[in-house]
Amino acid sequence: MQVICSKESLSSISVSAIVIGLFEDTPFDGFAAEFDSLTGGMLTRLVECEEFKGTALQTVTLYAAPGIPAMCTQLVGLGKRDEFNEKTALRAASAAAKTLGEKERKDVAFFFPSECTEAAVCGAMLGSVGQDLYRAERNLHPFETVHWVGTDANSDVSSGEIFGNSLNLTRELINRPACDIYPESLANRASSLADQCGLEVEVWDRARLENEKCGSLLAVSRGSAREPRLVILEHKGGPDDQPPIALVGKGVTFDSGGLSLKPSESMKEMKCDMGGAATVLGAIQAIAQLNLPVNVIALVGLVENMVSGDSYKLGDVLTARSGKTIEVLNTDAEGRLVLADVLNVAVERGASHIIDLATLTGACLVALGKQVAGVMTNDESFCDELLAAASRVGDDAWQLPMFDDYGEQIKSKVADIKNVGEGRWGGAITAAKFLEEFVDETPWVHIDIAGPSFLDSAKPWIDGGGTGAFVRTLVEVVRRRA
Ligand code: BES
Ligand code: ZN
Ligand code: ZN
Repeated sequence: MQVICSKESLSSISVSAIVIGLFEDTPFDGFAAEFDSLTGGMLTRLVECEEFKGTALQTVTLYAAPGIPAMCTQLVGLGKRDEFNEKTALRAASAAAKTLGEKERKDVAFFFPSECTEAAVCGAMLGSVGQDLYRAERNLHPFETVHWVGTDANSDVSSGEIFGNSLNLTRELINRPACDIYPESLANRASSLADQCGLEVEVWDRARLENEKCGSLLAVSRGSAREPRLVILEHKGGPDDQPPIALVGKGVTFDSGGLSLKPSESMKEMKCDMGGAATVLGAIQAIAQLNLPVNVIALVGLVENMVSGDSYKLGDVLTARSGKTIEVLNTDAEGRLVLADVLNVAVERGASHIIDLATLTGACLVALGKQVAGVMTNDESFCDELLAAASRVGDDAWQLPMFDDYGEQIKSKVADIKNVGEGRWGGAITAAKFLEEFVDETPWVHIDIAGPSFLDSAKPWIDGGGTGAFVRTLVEVVRRRA
């Protein structure tokens, strides 16, 4: 899909469909007024009889509107003008694209207000892309071309396109099942991304992971026929002596639970357990393409958590790369074991700050629901930066406390720490307390995206499956440090 800036008008543009974004409280401004007069008052009548109100994300499709060359006109509500923000812009454009994408349409022109263009362009690229990658008969048909009308800021349009491609990459990687995305194949995807974007890349295979003493990550992967990988991508945008910001992702390409086997109902979605890695890969792609003048390093730990005669067992004591020993009391708490070693590599590479993303705990879903990520930190001011970035781009995040008492719960009688807390309560936080053991003094934020990275079913603005949540937040954090 490509995005082109356009100066055409409603009455001249020749495309399969047009989208007009309309505010609730000022329905007859700008493009709306033009559309109303071209169509002989169609919009006035639609508003009068309350068929269209312009409330956020309302969609109404019109066909063969008089005076409009495009066969199909998609109206979409933007809500109240003074409440308009990046989240609404992205979702409204995406909702319109999703409705139009139900049928094959080659080129679609968006007539949108000039505010929040980057987010809106990104949304226009998301809605027509679905999770039906393996269906002969598609539910959604991606547009070939998006024409963007309504802004002079061409750079916002091109950065919006970069974001759209990055979120769609993250979504695709999550949506592909574990038979196609496994550590080796995901590492290959990461390498080709690096080649395309001019990133430096290092791939650690099993032999290298053994040499590097990544005992915690390797233990998780042992039950699988698929070999593990650790991928390091480097964007050198800043001065040579600037320590990098590290983005770390959990890449469990399938989580069966291991010997602490998951029931089918919980296991069936576990292709999504590499969501953290997919988010980090999407973000570093955008960071590279935007040429941000900051050094950033992305590290993803890729394993499959499976069952075999060689699986790691309950009661095993692992030695992590940092030298800490870990008693395994549940093989389904594997994400933290993978991240333990990856975080240690990030520290060793001299990261000034670390952000990790992981579909880490069901407990985070219990605490905050499906839409909201849990955020935990060892550094309040860095966490404030991240929360501000998330709020700006419309990724919902909420901070959870890291009181010392939670840390007591992961002490072990036989090893330095154990991989689960005492019982289920506060499970998102005890998991974060475990990760904190591996970041030393580095300012660090952990984002548990078990809920928001994956949708069981479609929303009005996006298909089910991978969402691309928090890709934009990561890029925003880096941008603000530029
Ligand atoms: N991958 C899961 C967490 C998860 C749950 C992700 C739901 C997405 C949706 C993780 O590895 C896991 O199984 N965590 C356990 C931890 C427990 C054994 C301490 C959990 O949350 O139940
Ligand atoms: Zn698990
Ligand atoms: Zn997992």
